[in-house]
Amino acid sequence: MDRNAPVGVFDSGVGGLTVAREIMRQIPDERIIYFGDTARLPYGSKSRDTIIRYSRQIIRFLRVMEVKAIVIACNTASSYALETVQAESDIPVIGVINAGARTAVQATRNRKIGVIGTEGTIGSGIYTEVMRQMRSDIEVFAKPCPLFVPLVEEGLLHDSVTDEIASRYLNSLKGKYIDTLVLGCTHYPLLRSTLRRLLGEEVTLVNPAYETAVELRGLLQKQNLDREPDASLTGEKYQFFVSDLAEKFTSFATAILPGEVKETKKINIEEY
Ligand code: DGL
Repeated sequence: MDRNAPVGVFDSGVGGLTVAREIMRQIPDERIIYFGDTARLPYGSKSRDTIIRYSRQIIRFLRVMEVKAIVIACNTASSYALETVQAESDIPVIGVINAGARTAVQATRNRKIGVIGTEGTIGSGIYTEVMRQMRSDIEVFAKPCPLFVPLVEEGLLHDSVTDEIASRYLNSLKGKYIDTLVLGCTHYPLLRSTLRRLLGEEVTLVNPAYETAVELRGLLQKQNLDREPDASLTGEKYQFFVSDLAEKFTSFATAILPGEVKETKKINIEEY
């Protein structure tokens, strides 16, 4: 495997850019091929079988692009498909769940952790399972927040509508005295300031994207797959592909990654 090959990162859409952004910050030498499945999102309300089928197709596309490792930068796809696709793959594949769970378990002082995510991620119970495997005396309170993704996609990051919906979702968690909250969906870090305001300073907000980039860096180093800083570069360092609406993706992505998104190419993912 070529250590100077790019890393593949995928999500149902723009949310995974919060993970790509952390990878760019923490391992700036790495090249990235990003795929957002904008034609088929949301993933959060689809079945396990469908998400596994989508993830396999995307991985086939990323393999054609000759990536050396893959990050599933989507909580729903990590919940449903990671184990299956990892078993099928001869290159490293990581998701975002373990990293987020580990950080939360390390951060909690009173052992009460909240998790918010899509209906798929919360329904799968995976965060609870993984955190309780890490530490059996942890209490986990999980809450699906299905309206957060469309609110973020609409750009309503600082809006009274978002405040109202967030406060309804968080009310049930407030009574549980959690001291740590996992933002178990790639879009939610973009609502951080709203969540912070509603929950107060005493609740630690965990963004799995940060730890995922830490995990990727360690994994690449361990397998001698980290890119050589002086390796030659042909073409763009960061390349973006989607299954639909390339222009809309570019404008959203530019807001998250200023200056990094030169072009977004649309591909037919059903061909893979
Ligand atoms: N990226 C998805 C996740 O992290 C959220 C968006 C969707 O439902 O497709 O779960």
